[in-house]
Amino acid sequence: MDALRRNQYLQTMGVDVWVSRHPPASAAVATAVAGVEDPRAADAAAVHAAAQAVARPATAVTGGADVLPAVARGADEPPAVTTWESLRSEVLACTKCSLHGSRTQGVFGVGSREAQWLVVGEAPGAEEDRRGEPFVGRAGHLLDAMLKAIGLSRGSNVYIANVLKSRPPGNRDPKPEEVAACLPYLMRQIELLRPRVMLAVGRIAAQNLLSTDAPLGRLRGKVHHFGELNTPLIVTYHPAYLLRTPSDKRKAWEDLKFARSVFQALNPT
Ligand code: URA
Repeated sequence: MDALRRNQYLQTMGVDVWVSRHPPASAAVATAVAGVEDPRAADAAAVHAAAQAVARPATAVTGGADVLPAVARGADEPPAVTTWESLRSEVLACTKCSLHGSRTQGVFGVGSREAQWLVVGEAPGAEEDRRGEPFVGRAGHLLDAMLKAIGLSRGSNVYIANVLKSRPPGNRDPKPEEVAACLPYLMRQIELLRPRVMLAVGRIAAQNLLSTDAPLGRLRGKVHHFGELNTPLIVTYHPAYLLRTPSDKRKAWEDLKFARSVFQALNPT
């Protein structure tokens, strides 16, 4: 993405853009500067080794696994073979927690099923509940602008899902029993997608994915690892929080650059 377009996206995010009076002379220099500009980029080198851990096994279907291998399951467990469509049907018909009684519909996820990036939010809000798609309200528009700033779009190269697939009434925090019922669906989405990098947006998503009650401020700025595939996971602010606290947008931009550097370290071009 050229600098002009990135600056336009940053302005859409509400991040002030500083233009260096000493621009780098070449792309190679720009890359070097990016490393200096973002001190945490050093961490990106450390995650290079994680590339092996997240490398797709030879049995994975090229270009994204559409079907999970058959696994022995109990009688009341999900079908032996999971496809995106069967999983989606299960989610839309789910009655495992009481939220099914108040939701309009389940909100499964959106984006490319071959994406190397997975963004995980908390739960659908009112607009998402109405339209059946994650992050389509005001916070969603900001999320889209944030993602565009690092070259990602739900239409092509990122998948977006929530910890909860049903809207909690009044947008209250998810209850532990709701998370316990719903998280297995996200785990199965992750098994199908096998993302290279995950971005947890907001405290609820981060704490539930990392099984911690640490505050968001302590979870930012580090590479965590998720699940059996050790998928690198970066934490940033929830876009709804950023709408309320625009002064933290610059920190969110640091997080996004950090996530991009982690991804690039895993996928050198
Ligand atoms: N907030 C979330 O965490 N997820 C959505 O889908 C919408 C708002």
